[in-house]
Parts: sequence; C-alpha cells; structure tokens
Amino acid sequence: MKILVLGSGAREHAIILALKSEDAGHELLAAPGNAGIARDAEIVDVDMLDGAAVTEFANEHGVNLVIVGPEAPLVAGVADVLREHGIPVFGPGKAAAALEGSKAFAKRIMEEAGVPTGRATHARSLDEVAAALDAFGAPHVVKADGLAAGKGVIVTSDRQAALDHAAEYLPTGPVLVEEFLSGPEVSLFFLSDGDTVRALSPAQDFKRALDGDEGPNTGGMGAYSPLPWLAERFGGEDAFVQHVTDEVALPVIRRLDEEGTPFIGLLYAGLIVTEAGVRVIEFNARFGDPETQVVLPRLVTPLSRLLLAAATGTLEDEPAPAFSDDVAVTVVVASEGYPESPVTGRPITGIVEAEAIAGVHVAHAATAQADDGGLIATGGRVLNVVARGADFREARERAYRGIAEIRLEGSHHRTDIAARVAQ
Ligand code: AMP
Ligand code: GLY
Repeated sequence: MKILVLGSGAREHAIILALKSEDAGHELLAAPGNAGIARDAEIVDVDMLDGAAVTEFANEHGVNLVIVGPEAPLVAGVADVLREHGIPVFGPGKAAAALEGSKAFAKRIMEEAGVPTGRATHARSLDEVAAALDAFGAPHVVKADGLAAGKGVIVTSDRQAALDHAAEYLPTGPVLVEEFLSGPEVSLFFLSDGDTVRALSPAQDFKRALDGDEGPNTGGMGAYSPLPWLAERFGGEDAFVQHVTDEVALPVIRRLDEEGTPFIGLLYAGLIVTEAGVRVIEFNARFGDPETQVVLPRLVTPLSRLLLAAATGTLEDEPAPAFSDDVAVTVVVASEGYPESPVTGRPITGIVEAEAIAGVHVAHAATAQADDGGLIATGGRVLNVVARGADFREARERAYRGIAEIRLEGSHHRTDIAARVAQ
C-alpha cells in the first residue's frame, strides 16, 4: 500500500515504524515529518493543514490511505476533504474532532450518551468560576474550552491560582470547572469506523515535567504498556477493555453517529480509575503521544490492515487487535526549558549507541538534520527512547541505558517512568 502519514512527532514516527515492521512492502510517505521519520519514510512537500492540497497530492500519487497524526489537521477539516473525494483516511472529520477540540462539546456528548465523567460547570464569568470552585471544593480543576496545546488545564489546591487561570481563558469563552477525580490515569485507544470499535492495549502517560509527578503539565514525559495493576484490579486486561468499550466508547460512537458526525479514526479515552469506578477526563481524536510509542511496538496485528478497515468501514470484519506479551517503556528527552520555553537548535548525539542496546529504538519527536549532517533539536520534546523487554525491570533498565547514551546539552528527562511497575 501507499500510505501518507501527516505529522512530525514521535507519535508519527511510531506509526511509521509499525507500518514498516509489517514487512509488507508499503510505500511510506510523510509530511512534514522530521529527521528520524526521514530515515523510515519519504518526506513529501505538502501542507498537512490544507485539505485540498493533501487531496490533490493523494490523487496524483495514488495514495491508498492517509493517516492523520495530530489534532490540528483534524480540527482544520482535512479528513473531511479527503473523504469527500473518496480517499481512505484514518482520522475524524472536523465535527467529530470537536470531541477533542471543544471540552463543552465533549461534555454534552458524554452527558447524552450516559458516559461516566466528572461533574462540571461551564462558567462564563469570574463570579461563576468562584462559585463553582467553592461548590466542588479543593483540589480545583479548571479547563479552557478549546485546544490549548496542553496548557489549558490547571489542577491546584490554590484557589487564587485556579481563578487566575480562569481569568486568562475567560476572554476567549466559557471555562470548565470540574470536580477533582482521584486515582491512577489510563489512556485507552479505540479504532473506530464510525460504527464498530476495536480497542488497543492500555497505557499510562506521565504528564508532569518532574519526577514524582511534580512540576508543570507537559505533553507527556514517558509511558508504559501494558498496565499490570489494572489487569489485576479488573480481573484481566480484556475485562477492563470490555468494560470501557461498553460504558464509554460505544455509547459515544453511537451518539456521534446519531448526530450525523460519525467518528472515523482513533478515539482516545483519557480515564481516571477512581474508587467509584472509571471516569472519563478527556477525549482526544487521535493517537496519544507518547503512549503510541509503547502501544504500537506491542501490536502484533498489522496496523495498516486495522487502520484501512477503520477508514473504509469494515472494522467489523477484523478480529480484535492482538498484542505481544512483552512490555514497553518510553522515556522522553526534552530540551532545556521545556515546557515553558524550550531551547532549540542544539546538537544531539548518541542515538546509534542507544539503538545498539537490545530491545531499544529511538522515536524522533523534534529533530532536524543540520548542515553538517548531524542532528539538532527543534522543539521541546526531542526524542523518545523506547525499550521492550520480557518484564518492566528489563524494559526500564534498557530504556535508561539508552537515555544515558543520548547527548543534548541542557536536556532533561524523568527518572521514574514505570518505576512502580518495575519493582
Ligand atoms: P487534560 O489536558 O484534560 O488531559 O488534563 C491534563 C491533566 O490534568 C490530566 O492528565 C490529569 O492529570 C489532570 N486532570 C484533568 N482533569 C482532572 C480531574 N477532573 N481530576 C483530576 N485530575 C484531572
Ligand atoms: N499523552 C497525552 C496526549 O497525547 O494528549
């Protein structure tokens, strides 16, 4: 198959590596890609935010499947244009992508579909925010309504900080004040063709910048999959997955279909497993980053087959995706100053040495080739060291040995990814 992947992060690199590992002779294209993706796919010059341009490119080059990685092209309606022109695309249209793009829309759909989520109030003024904060009590959760590149959410016990955060976003629309949910977080991905869903294996993301879940929220500093404690609690991973499929994914997919906005692509359920049960804290309309980097290496079923089936409405004919028994851990290397103000342009070395370690590979997030042929960092999250192993002790040890090989001046990473499950 000729497959075009839109995006430029480690998530897209992970998707491309999974497609490549099928050994099916796919022709892999990427736009805009990065220096790591360029080693595994052909970089093509097309604006991923321009639906007409992507459609023209796909038609001209006989692309069989377009996979949309990040939310921006989805929210820009790129998948709608491709679908209108009959090009198979994995990624929801603009209306269904609002599940990620608008927290108010997501809350309404959840309410109508009867999906368990935190109680929330839409506040339009600081007075309404203050009243809601006091009604729910501390810790406080305040969320901006639209896409805010991971910066829209604050979780704090400081009432004034919660008010200040609300004040920052209120000029652009209502903010969501939500009840605090306590418990471990789980990311569960569902492939959907608008009607049928197929779950992937659960993963856990580490969102805070520093060890011990301290510091500011980030796009994600590491991840691991599967989640042994979750399987234990629910009597097996399959039981958990079935529960969330029945209580969350299917009701939402059906509700969106009833609205005339079928969800074709990846439904990312961000969950908190509370004492009272599983609750949704957010939906995304795309693969999670960095969770994808640990979920896809464990996928045994060919990814292209699953994504094409989702894109063409034939997921019902596909068996449940199969996963290997081994485990995966990824640790993100971030630039100095990330997430506030990352320093870019510095050289990176040690990737070859890291990848010489058994079970280790590097997914590139923000890298470019410098004029001298070397690599430089071009963003906050620079690369992911991914390690597989028979158990978490092995995978973790490999991942951190890989991390030790990477040289990037001023960079930082968390040292406690998957520490709890590796004991
Ligand atoms: P989001 O951008 O919605 O993923 O939120 C960022 C992070 O804030 C999540 O990963 C959670 O750690 C935390 N969070 C969001 N909503 C809640 C909530 N209702 N209760 C507790 N923590 C939350
Ligand atoms: N890992 C969080 C996200 O992809 O939104």
